[in-house]
Amino acid sequence: MIPKRILLTGAAGLLGGVLRRSFAGQFQLLRLSDIVSLGEAGEGEEIVTCDLADAAAVEALCKGMDAIIHLGGIPYETGWPELLRSNIIGTINLYEGARRAGVDRVIFASSNHATGMHPNDRTLSGESPARPDSRYGLTKAIGEDVAALYAYKHGIRSFCIRIGSCLPKPDNKRALSTWLSHGDFVRLVQVGLKADYVHEIVYGVSKNTRSWWDNSAAYRLGYEPQDDAEVYAAEVGDIELKTDLARNYQGGNFVPDEFSGRKEWLD
Ligand SMILES: NC(=O)c1ccc[n+]([C@@H]2O[C@H](COP(=O)([O-])OP(=O)(O)OC[C@H]3O[C@@H](n4cnc5c(N)ncnc54)[C@H](O)[C@@H]3O)[C@@H](O)[C@H]2O)c1
Repeated sequence: MIPKRILLTGAAGLLGGVLRRSFAGQFQLLRLSDIVSLGEAGEGEEIVTCDLADAAAVEALCKGMDAIIHLGGIPYETGWPELLRSNIIGTINLYEGARRAGVDRVIFASSNHATGMHPNDRTLSGESPARPDSRYGLTKAIGEDVAALYAYKHGIRSFCIRIGSCLPKPDNKRALSTWLSHGDFVRLVQVGLKADYVHEIVYGVSKNTRSWWDNSAAYRLGYEPQDDAEVYAAEVGDIELKTDLARNYQGGNFVPDEFSGRKEWLD
């Protein structure tokens, strides 16, 4: 079934804005939600201000939707209380609201930081186990497990995208591996809206020559990325990460931040 009524959480954010512009007029209804202002509703849009931590409000938000693109949450490292509230409780509320409303599928914005403590000479796939590099990364790993619970137990198709670095263009050497162009982001979300899957974890990455990720699961479902960060290699060549840990592990600067572990335990 091609979804006609779509809920977009985190719609006021950077990636929410990319989808809002790209999806304008393409669906019967695009319900845009965020905790902050979203401006005026355009044609085919509906705007609902909602805090993801408010279970009753999120339940109402999910009603009547065929699919949900769940981008809402905190996208950086911060303290437990904020992350617990917006990312963990928020994602549980979202899935529970989706279950009660009989929503067919949820596309969940996970992150490469769910697997950031893996070394970057290792090729990971969606099957690779979580190894979070931060409290933030852990919230995304938990979100992927929440997605699995609601897929296998409650029948909600779940497409988890471990997004790399979704930027207009790569901004440092690491991003030559992790970059996801805005165009490829839209293409991957479209795959999530249409493809046949139960619980799938893919990487949100363009077809970068230096990618660390085997994204064959996304390709099997129809993802055809168009962009390669390599065309920016000369531009970003001198922008290096500053520590060994940041250079050698997938999470980049998230890895040395607050690090108090044993380097010899990191393979
Ligand atoms: N941009 C990237 O490269 C990237 C990489 C990996 C993962 N992601 C994930 O993709 C999603 C979107 O990222 P972004 O860069 O657009 O971030 P963003 O911060 O620009 O957007 C997130 C939005 O979520 C909203 N939000 C936060 N807490 C909320 C709450 N309690 N209730 C309702 N709304 C709330 C914010 O107001 C914001 O508008 C995030 O979940 C992020 O973790 C992004």
